[in-house]
Amino acid sequence: MHYDFDLMIDRRGSDAIKWDGAEMLIKYGYCERFDDATIPLFVADMDFAIPDPVRDALRRRAEQPMFGYTTHTANSDYYAAILGWFGRRMQWQINKDHIVFSPGTVAAVNTCIQAYSQKGEGIIIQPPVYAPFFSSIKNNERLVVENRLINDNGYYRIDFADLDAKAAQPENTMLILCSPHNPVGRIWQPDELRQMAEICQRHDVIIVTDEIHGDLIRCDQTFYPLASLIDDPRIVTCTAINKTFNLAGLHCSNIVIADDKMREAYLKAQGFQTPTPFAISALIAAYNEGEEWLEQLKAYLDNTFNWLDKFIGKNLPDVAFRIPEGTYIAWLDFNAMQLSPEEIHDRIYNKANVLFQDGNHFGEGYDHFQRICLPSPLAMIKEAMARVAAQF
Ligand SMILES: Cc1ncc(COP(=O)(O)O)c(C=O)c1O
Repeated sequence: MHYDFDLMIDRRGSDAIKWDGAEMLIKYGYCERFDDATIPLFVADMDFAIPDPVRDALRRRAEQPMFGYTTHTANSDYYAAILGWFGRRMQWQINKDHIVFSPGTVAAVNTCIQAYSQKGEGIIIQPPVYAPFFSSIKNNERLVVENRLINDNGYYRIDFADLDAKAAQPENTMLILCSPHNPVGRIWQPDELRQMAEICQRHDVIIVTDEIHGDLIRCDQTFYPLASLIDDPRIVTCTAINKTFNLAGLHCSNIVIADDKMREAYLKAQGFQTPTPFAISALIAAYNEGEEWLEQLKAYLDNTFNWLDKFIGKNLPDVAFRIPEGTYIAWLDFNAMQLSPEEIHDRIYNKANVLFQDGNHFGEGYDHFQRICLPSPLAMIKEAMARVAAQF
């Protein structure tokens, strides 16, 4: 079947943060303006309808007119769907008994911090990186330890010497890896993953790898789950249908923890959590029947990135941009424009009336960067970029 990703669907009035979140965004100082003409591209959330089989499964579940307490643990289809997806698509053979449900990936990262580290310990992250990594560490009274990525002409690499030095300090007990990386879009290659794992194993640092963007990669790329390459039961992998299939509102992540004691500690820290009935039905349909949709989506996003690359080259030549290997995120470097971050923000958010995300959310020193989330009909992206370009 053919999916039409050009279809514009009005999401206003559907309680979407992206379209109905004006009051909240302004209140938290995220933007100053949000009106009917605003084009919001700040959040990693798609303006595309979900795969038909998932929608059908949700309809079927809604026909059963009771939504009481649920458990996925008795549903072998739930586990088979997860094992099938990762085995088929990523050559990662997961043991069903290692899977733990979590209502979200950020929630899971928080639980890992609580389960595997002590207050006051250091947790290593690799800025520029997804803002909730910083807040999860700080809110749990741990210390953020930065292993900053090296910006090699727009291609980001890991500073292994720095990682080794930070991991060697006994008070630093965990690395939260973003793989693929949000916002720089890198897919860590097997040699990079092996080197990171070797450093962490040597210094007894636990790796929690957030692989929520692992399905959303360019068509010519391969994604490597860390645990598929490294035989170490202490690796904790966060997976989710949330991002891949535009189902974040159903809150369904699955965390893979091979080490029995670590899994027990995780469950203790998390408390009793089960998926909603809709999440169970959606997961089974998405992982069993969502592949056709995902492959078409990936081709659509490839085309959007190619368009963006050409548009920026022609209309915003002082903005540095590189098509990412993974994620549907663009990370734009405005440094060469020689404008203040405030001026850049004002032109984009207030004058063009387009919401990106300011780079300073991803760590200190990224004030001249902007992040854009691109999973929207290309016509919307074109309009947003034309408005932005007109301001520069
Ligand atoms: C790296 C990363 N982790 C986690 C999340 C959010 O995941 P969840 O909705 O499952 O909490 C996002 C969303 O943008 C993300 O980019």
